[in-house]
Amino acid sequence: MSFKFENKTVVVTGAAAGMGEQITKDLISQGATVVAVDINKNALENLKNNIEQEGLPNAKANQRLIIFEGDISKRETNEAMIAKAVEETGKLDVLVNNAGVAGHSEPIGETSDDDWNRIFSVDLNGPMFAIRAAVKQFLEQENGGNIVTIASMAGLKGCRSCAAYGAAKHGLIGLSENTAYMYMHKNIRSNVVCPGAIKTGMTSRPELENQFGRERIRAGMDPEIPFGTPKDVANAVLFLASDDARFINGASLVVDGGISCN
Ligand SMILES: NC(=O)c1ccc[n+]([C@@H]2O[C@H](COP(=O)([O-])OP(=O)(O)OC[C@H]3O[C@@H](n4cnc5c(N)ncnc54)[C@H](O)[C@@H]3O)[C@@H](O)[C@H]2O)c1
Repeated sequence: MSFKFENKTVVVTGAAAGMGEQITKDLISQGATVVAVDINKNALENLKNNIEQEGLPNAKANQRLIIFEGDISKRETNEAMIAKAVEETGKLDVLVNNAGVAGHSEPIGETSDDDWNRIFSVDLNGPMFAIRAAVKQFLEQENGGNIVTIASMAGLKGCRSCAAYGAAKHGLIGLSENTAYMYMHKNIRSNVVCPGAIKTGMTSRPELENQFGRERIRAGMDPEIPFGTPKDVANAVLFLASDDARFINGASLVVDGGISCN
């Protein structure tokens, strides 16, 4: 898939692994300058080395990658990453809220305060800080901008993950819709991508899952769960982030191979 991202500045959170890595590489390939934000410094360095070695199909790709270490659950990180984009390029065109952490299928009766707070601070509070900082920047610049947020199927159906994750991802969709509506006349768009099961580090440890919760979640699903790839999600993200999607605002695009249709 090819979209026009030349001269576009994009901030991607959780950029060093999984979907964020793919989104970052695809944006860089298609001409964007990317501020790649992650809590994992080593993984960010690896991303930079990989992009240098792979020689992505666009001139000076590695010079358009700006790595930025930070924890997005903190307001300061979110404000600083937006400021970094503006400092380096004079503007921000797109924010991709991708970083997230999952639980282990725990129902609310087995959810500790620590788990609830950890998931909410990364999956909902962090994107809220980022969206707020991005909107302030979009309002200051002539061409506005747009936001793509990675929620989950668990943001549309409460029975597809642990209690805290589902609640946080539902909140993200509500925040994205509110943002889309409030700023629809200000040249700001806000959309969501809802992946189903995607093969990344997040889905690689089934042995840690809460057995009762996992059985309840599985009971409501087709037994043959189709797994997608980070590329499947990146394709949807780049489309929504591109100017080709200029009239799409407040949408939630499901990327799950059909598993949520039952
Ligand atoms: N993998 C799936 O099946 C799946 C399904 C639906 C939704 N999602 C969502 O997609 C997004 C990406 O997931 P993934 O599967 O690529 O995950 P992943 O675990 O493979 O990668 C997540 C990246 O985010 C970074 N990160 C985690 N916490 C952070 C923090 N506090 N600050 C900054 N960076 C942080 C990690 O270091 C990592 O590089 C998440 O929001 C996740 O909830 C994933």
